[in-house]
Amino acid sequence: MEIIIQPTAARATCVAARLLAGLIRKKPSAVLGMATGSTPLALYRELVALKLNWRKVRTFNLDEYVGTSPEHPQSYHHFMWENLFGQVNIDKQNVRIPDGLAKDIPKFCASYEKQIRAAGGIDLQVLGIGTDGHIGFNEPTSSLASRTRIKTLTPQTRKDNARFFGSEAEVPHHCITMGIGTILDARHCVLLAFGRNKARAIAEAVEGPITSMNPASALQFHPKTTVFLDEAAAAELRLKDYYRWVYDNKPDWQKI
Ligand code: GLP
Repeated sequence: MEIIIQPTAARATCVAARLLAGLIRKKPSAVLGMATGSTPLALYRELVALKLNWRKVRTFNLDEYVGTSPEHPQSYHHFMWENLFGQVNIDKQNVRIPDGLAKDIPKFCASYEKQIRAAGGIDLQVLGIGTDGHIGFNEPTSSLASRTRIKTLTPQTRKDNARFFGSEAEVPHHCITMGIGTILDARHCVLLAFGRNKARAIAEAVEGPITSMNPASALQFHPKTTVFLDEAAAAELRLKDYYRWVYDNKPDWQKI
């Protein structure tokens, strides 16, 4: 894993945006895995400001709440169109987000996996992290080999996400999420985490043992993962000075 620690979330977001923009410029038909939550919001704002050509870009979102229609203001469909897709020239046909209203969920999940394969796999997967280490909605004890499927949210995640809904009671109990195995198939994983409340989950994911109790720790198996952190989210890392040194001394050809 490459750990990039920046003084602020804004600076870390800027470097991450440069990385994504570089990919879109180099490969106009890139397949991107998208994430929701508050963490990638600034990244999407930066990408919009860069006025890239999204016409051929294809996207697959990580997850969606079950029972939530695309028009629901808290649906991840709505989030993506509001914060990114609606502001760039992406072709609607190239956007895939799990269908929270799917009648046959296992069938839908199998077809989602098939569509990712048919697109040639995901070039770059954007990830946030839950305070319990979840990626996508793969809660603790998710199989590290899991594929797209239905999951039940933990009480902690429902509490964490209640701020987006009117109240905790309105947060759905179920979701459809890419599995950890699906995420690990992406050619590059880019995890962003900002703020002190993510420090423990990050320390466990990066420096702890690989365990389904912290699903993000599975990224230690991935050959190319870049983790963007602000100082607060890096607070509990034991080797943070080493990660800083590595980043500051990258050979020129490796710089982002
Ligand atoms: C949700 C999403 C995750 C996201 C997490 C963290 O649970 N399904 O993809 O990483 O929230 O959200 P935030 O970035 O708002 O802290």
